[in-house]
Amino acid sequence: MEEILNDLIALTGFTDQDPQILRDVAAQTAVWQEEVTQVFYNTLYGYKSTAAVFREGERPDRENTLRNWYQIVTAGDIDANFWRWQWFVGLIHIPRGITNPFMLGMMSRVQQLFRAKCLETFDAEQAETVFGAFKRITDIIAGLIAEGYFQSYVQAMERMSGQSRLLIDRMVNLEVEEMVAELRQTPH
Ligand code: HEM
Repeated sequence: MEEILNDLIALTGFTDQDPQILRDVAAQTAVWQEEVTQVFYNTLYGYKSTAAVFREGERPDRENTLRNWYQIVTAGDIDANFWRWQWFVGLIHIPRGITNPFMLGMMSRVQQLFRAKCLETFDAEQAETVFGAFKRITDIIAGLIAEGYFQSYVQAMERMSGQSRLLIDRMVNLEVEEMVAELRQTPH
């Protein structure tokens, strides 16, 4: 996970100033928590494919998870443990059928709402600064969840098949080469 986190930090341009920027305005952004939570779950419960992943009576628990997550992010409580937790969310999502497109779609939704709120609340320059910090942090989170999902999926295959990761990677590469060759042969 370390290496992937470092890649995401380097490529998004995240710096330690970003959590500080969020910390400085936490009193103002904390009040958006409820609206973010309701938009999040109204969207998910209002769309057939995502509504189907929830269990009966689960919504209050799920809302609390998101409230807690939003509170931590907007308080700028971003440390090694937080990033590890986000990686772990990818693993938790697998057995519940929560695909990365579901997650990425909702991360986009959260970012758009947060941006609109920034523009309403701050002057243009500060809105850009605050949203920039939020965007970099939540993009890293999305990267960690997506890669955590993928790596955990492959790790589960490695464990159940008893094959080493190295062997799985080699076999996958051979197969992928064939798939690419097949696609190239197909006229389009
Ligand atoms: C912005 C994107 C998302 C973030 C940041 C996020 C974050 C989280 C977090 C922090 C947890 C708790 C992990 C733990 O137990 O410590 C969680 C669990 C869960 N999430 Fe997500 N999530 C996202 C998208 C989604 C979407 C799109 C769905 C549904 C379509 C979803 C459904 C769930 C469910 C059902 C659980 C509970 C899994 C379980 O404990 O059985 N999440 N998520």
